[in-house]
Amino acid sequence: MPPDRDAPALDPAALFDLTGRVAIVTGASSGLGAAVARTLAAAGARVAVVARRADRLAALAEEIGGTPVACDLADLDGVHAVVPEAAAALGPPEILVNAAGARLTDAAAENEPLAAARRTVDLNLLAPFLLAQAAFPHMRAIGRGAIVNVSSISGRVGVPGIPQASYAASKAGLSGLTAELAVQWARHAIRVNTVAPGFFRSEITEPLYASERGGAYLRRNTPLPMEGGARDVVGAVLWLAGDAGRYVTGQTIVVDGGWTAH
Ligand SMILES: NC(=O)c1ccc[n+]([C@@H]2O[C@H](COP(=O)([O-])OP(=O)(O)OC[C@H]3O[C@@H](n4cnc5c(N)ncnc54)[C@H](OP(=O)(O)O)[C@@H]3O)[C@@H](O)[C@H]2O)c1
Repeated sequence: MPPDRDAPALDPAALFDLTGRVAIVTGASSGLGAAVARTLAAAGARVAVVARRADRLAALAEEIGGTPVACDLADLDGVHAVVPEAAAALGPPEILVNAAGARLTDAAAENEPLAAARRTVDLNLLAPFLLAQAAFPHMRAIGRGAIVNVSSISGRVGVPGIPQASYAASKAGLSGLTAELAVQWARHAIRVNTVAPGFFRSEITEPLYASERGGAYLRRNTPLPMEGGARDVVGAVLWLAGDAGRYVTGQTIVVDGGWTAH
């Protein structure tokens, strides 16, 4: 008899319950990071919200009962303070969501300034790595942990018409880092995964959605008929952050309305 034949039905609410867990969410001053912070808090987590805009972080932290940690994550010397500050305020973190990220130059690949490329890699790849390193001892002591990085479909495919060489390289790097950390830290039950969104409406993509040409481009390349929003990506992050995703590690999950499927 297959061992799972008599397995009981699982309580869906329990699968996504984060009561008592401490989470750190970067990029939480807007867009996807703010939506993730609200959702993890609604699932019961105590959440430290991280970004540069301190006023927005303070308002969100008050709304969800979390704590704000203001930091420029492209300044790697300052990144070391984030996890200790969050842990001092809320306790040891067992969830880390690296949602902060940006495309810092519009330059064509052949003209990308080295300084912009370096800063892009610092923010999108090295800051998540440093935060994961800082969270690791807490997760090891707790006996479990979940790290969810946010990359992009541009870490997987080229995106014609929107130059983003260093951004794409930094996001692809997150997937490599994810697989390697997953393997190194699996014995501590620390899971590491990446969510790779396609285009969704947010502050950074607003001009694209607002223009007639941009809107048509997005509709033409997205098989699903609806426009994506942060709400469409949050579910994958919540799944990977909690017990519903407890046997998933090292993966990059694409959430893109079918962009990379056609
Ligand atoms: N929207 C899309 O279509 C799309 C598609 C694929 C991937 N993504 C990825 O999804 C993630 C969230 O983006 P979003 O669309 O929600 O855009 P967003 O609303 O602009 O959010 C970006 C977040 O990153 C933070 N951030 C940017 N630079 C930072 C820095 N130097 N230090 C600390 N925090 C910084 C911003 O906060 P502050 O400005 O307050 O610092 C903001 O909270 C990003 O990693 C992005 O690359 C987005």
